[in-house]
Amino acid sequence: MERRQQNNALRGVGSHDRSVPAALAENFAQGWADTSLSLPRLPGAAYAAARRAALSERFPGERIVVPSGGLKVRSHDFDFHFRPHSAFVHLTAETGTWAVPDSVLVLEPHGNGHDVTLFTRPRSPRTAGPGGAELYSDRQYGEFWVGRRRSLAETEDALGVATASRDRLEQALRGGGAPTRVIRGHDALVDALVPPAPEAEAELLTFLSELRLVKDEWEIEQLRLAVDSTVAGFHDVVRELRQATRLERGERWIEGTFNRRARLDGYGLGFETIAAAGAHSSTLHWMRNDGPVREGDLLLLDAGVEADSFYTGDVTRALPVSGRFSDAQRKVYELVYAAQSAGIAALRPGARYGDFHDAAVRVVAEGLEAWGLIPDAEAALAPDSTLYRRYTLCGSGHHLGLDCHDCGAARQERYMEGVLEAGQVLTVEPGLYFQPDDLTVPEELRGIGLRIEDDFLITATGAECLSAALPRAADEVEAWMASLR
Ligand code: GLY
Ligand code: MN
Repeated sequence: MERRQQNNALRGVGSHDRSVPAALAENFAQGWADTSLSLPRLPGAAYAAARRAALSERFPGERIVVPSGGLKVRSHDFDFHFRPHSAFVHLTAETGTWAVPDSVLVLEPHGNGHDVTLFTRPRSPRTAGPGGAELYSDRQYGEFWVGRRRSLAETEDALGVATASRDRLEQALRGGGAPTRVIRGHDALVDALVPPAPEAEAELLTFLSELRLVKDEWEIEQLRLAVDSTVAGFHDVVRELRQATRLERGERWIEGTFNRRARLDGYGLGFETIAAAGAHSSTLHWMRNDGPVREGDLLLLDAGVEADSFYTGDVTRALPVSGRFSDAQRKVYELVYAAQSAGIAALRPGARYGDFHDAAVRVVAEGLEAWGLIPDAEAALAPDSTLYRRYTLCGSGHHLGLDCHDCGAARQERYMEGVLEAGQVLTVEPGLYFQPDDLTVPEELRGIGLRIEDDFLITATGAECLSAALPRAADEVEAWMASLR
């Protein structure tokens, strides 16, 4: 009975679990080989150390607390895949293979800098004493349920930071000490221990977001990997298009095909795959993916593989399911292609961030005027009008990195009103979305949604397309599709 109560105090132990007699607990505690590992330092660790040094320099004399976040319940006692907070990843270089829920990075002021400690969950202990039942009874954290974590020493070796058990976090954060800034809302214990300081916390979040605006060489390597896998996923999908047309919910087949690549090559998805066929393509983030894929449709596939380092690709193509664009589809494709090309041509260090968007929407507005959809492109582009947006709906790109929409807490002056710098990575993704019930557009265009999206690294002289391996021009897309059929 006593043991049973102890078990129920464990997270992840349910009412349908059997109690553990003392004899079994004793038995579980012995007879295991030494499986400790000698883990090499992760290649990203040195870069993470440099980021922590920048953080330390920015907030001297203050305690900084960055949680990874924890598990989220999917249903009852099943959780979603764990995905740590991007700020935590950036400051630790932790990977999908080893990431541990409820880890917390603490920078404690010391002398002119900070001591860094990662509070985390060690391996499940193999003891008959307190905590011993986690190993075999805890379906959220037990090694026999969810797999082995690193020991604290192994984590220290892999990440190059001092580690401590999460059990010691409360002691480290409780009471007095230095003024403390946290990333709030991701760890209930941290939130409870540190009194809210909204302005200071917003400042921390902003700093950490802006720290990610320019990618270092290791991040660029990771983004290349993520984008290469993303491109491979598009190849996979084209090979499966015919099969998708035979199924009632062909969009799901497309989604599953891409997602298989994401899990095979990386940690998973940077965002839920958008597999939008036919009129679904005019919904920007169509993720229900429960529709058919028909022979004459366009399939808008917007998808990104997230590498094991958590960096993600983000690419969109509008693919004619038959392999050939119809006249109406091609007409829209050519205009969006021209808009994207104009946006791409505006990418260079020193350019305003807004320049590529402005260049792209100018082409779109002029095209819409030529088609008679708006009376006057110039007037439609004016800030007090922007009427063209009925058909474009959203912006033409964003920073890309650990988050698909990276650096989201950066200030306006560093993002929207900022200037492009070598090492930044962003998407250029203009689109046109004609709703199926939009009476202002000719019938032949209704239900066509079309976006072309590629990922770019700003270089010293211009921009490099990271997704260049994927055909972009309409003719190239058709030839590529024919070659895979
Ligand atoms: N790929 C989704 C987006 O950029 O919104
Ligand atoms: Mn995007």
